[in-house]
Amino acid sequence: MMDRTNFLLFMSCSMIHLFISCLASNILNITTDQSALTVFKSQFEHDGSNILARNWSSYTPICNWIGVTCSFHHHRVKAINVSNMELSGIIPPELGDLSFLVSLDMSGNKLYGNLPKELSKLKRLKFISFSFNRFSGKIPSFFEAMPNLQQLHLRNCSFTGSIPPSLSNISKLEALDLTYNSLGGMIPVEIGNLGHLKILTLAGNKFSGAIPASMFNVSTLEMADFSYNSLSGNLPANMCRNLPSLTYFNVYSNQLYGQIPSTIEECSQLHHLSLQLNQFNGPVPKQIGNLSMLVVLYLGDNNFKGISISLFYMTRKFHVGCTCFIIFNL
Ligand SMILES: *[C@@H]1O[C@H](CO)[C@@H](O)[C@H](O)[C@H]1NC(C)=O
Ligand SMILES: *[C@@H]1O[C@H](CO)[C@@H](O)[C@H](O)[C@H]1NC(C)=O
Ligand SMILES: *[C@@H]1O[C@H](CO)[C@@H](O)[C@H](O)[C@H]1NC(C)=O
Ligand SMILES: *[C@@H]1O[C@H](CO)[C@@H](O)[C@H](O)[C@H]1NC(C)=O
Ligand SMILES: *[C@@H]1O[C@H](CO)[C@@H](O)[C@H](O)[C@H]1NC(C)=O
Ligand SMILES: *[C@@H]1O[C@H](CO)[C@@H](O)[C@H](O)[C@H]1NC(C)=O
Ligand SMILES: *[C@@H]1O[C@H](CO)[C@@H](O)[C@H](O)[C@H]1NC(C)=O
Repeated sequence: MMDRTNFLLFMSCSMIHLFISCLASNILNITTDQSALTVFKSQFEHDGSNILARNWSSYTPICNWIGVTCSFHHHRVKAINVSNMELSGIIPPELGDLSFLVSLDMSGNKLYGNLPKELSKLKRLKFISFSFNRFSGKIPSFFEAMPNLQQLHLRNCSFTGSIPPSLSNISKLEALDLTYNSLGGMIPVEIGNLGHLKILTLAGNKFSGAIPASMFNVSTLEMADFSYNSLSGNLPANMCRNLPSLTYFNVYSNQLYGQIPSTIEECSQLHHLSLQLNQFNGPVPKQIGNLSMLVVLYLGDNNFKGISISLFYMTRKFHVGCTCFIIFNL
């Protein structure tokens, strides 16, 4: 009996010991952050302005490095902003060890290669911008492993392939910018599950098929830019029913067709509406005149009934009570 108890005690002690030493070997500190950023710095073939080479010195504390912000409370790196520093190189997997990182801005450099999957360990990230770099391959699906991500900016990054549907699992996402890549295929229906999305910009890609109906259900949406793609299909008859905050809607240069729904007036906050260069037909609904916030309206280069001009561009100079339109025939 005694032996058995001792044995159990021994067993649980060694389990706890194992657990603690296991934990200890995983404890990351500011030294981890310094190693990660040193690896990042060391692999630049070309640091155009040479700022980091000089400034990120091992003789000065990492929290004083340019572009590095530390959390006072945790004494770990919480933000990195190395935008527009002419950095040329890859993103090393070690960056995934910056476990207290909240904001990562590497936009406007010449970074290339793949985004390492180790970045998915960055659970606190709220803001990511890799815009204006030259990565290769597809948009990784691991962003879904970042539960706090609010802004994902991947503009002009040379990504190919399609939008990974898993992006729809980033439930706090408010801004998704995939403008100017070489993305194609259909816009995944699941994107309509992003219940906090305010800004969606997919312009300048090769998306085809219809704009998913689920998109028009994202009631937080303020800005939707689908311009310069190959989208087809109709605008849903009740497109504005669930878009009370939409201020910007742009489908310039696609292959959309059908009529402009007269319910467009329900998007009462619209400032900018661009339907130009599509195959819309039928009459232009007079309800457009009820959009009292509208500043810019592009309707040209469609097949509207009764409008033979090739370009129909209207701006509205409005002040309270004025419903005057200026119409330019170009
Ligand atoms: C970080 O942890 C390592 C052990 O993992 C230790 O050697 C080092 O002194 C620690 N650094 C700081 C600044 O606490
Ligand atoms: C690095 O840049 C920061 C911010 O500009 C500056 O405060 C610091 O003195 C610089 N450090 C070195 C070693 O040049
Ligand atoms: C990074 O720095 C640039 C230049 O100072 C600034 O425009 C940009 O807003 C910063 N990014 C973030 C995420 O704060
Ligand atoms: C994309 O970025 C490159 C620089 O990285 C720039 O030369 C090019 O004009 C950009 N393209 C667009 C469409 O913004
Ligand atoms: C979202 O996450 C859930 C749970 O992990 C998974 O079952 C589902 O397939 C994911 N959705 C997409 C579109 O990847
Ligand atoms: C839009 O939301 C309504 C109400 O939640 C739902 O019944 C409908 O199926 C949704 N439509 C799409 C296309 O997701
Ligand atoms: C739209 O404008 C017309 C007059 O042009 C007006 O009779 C109608 O009540 C307006 N509708 C709304 C919803 O404001």
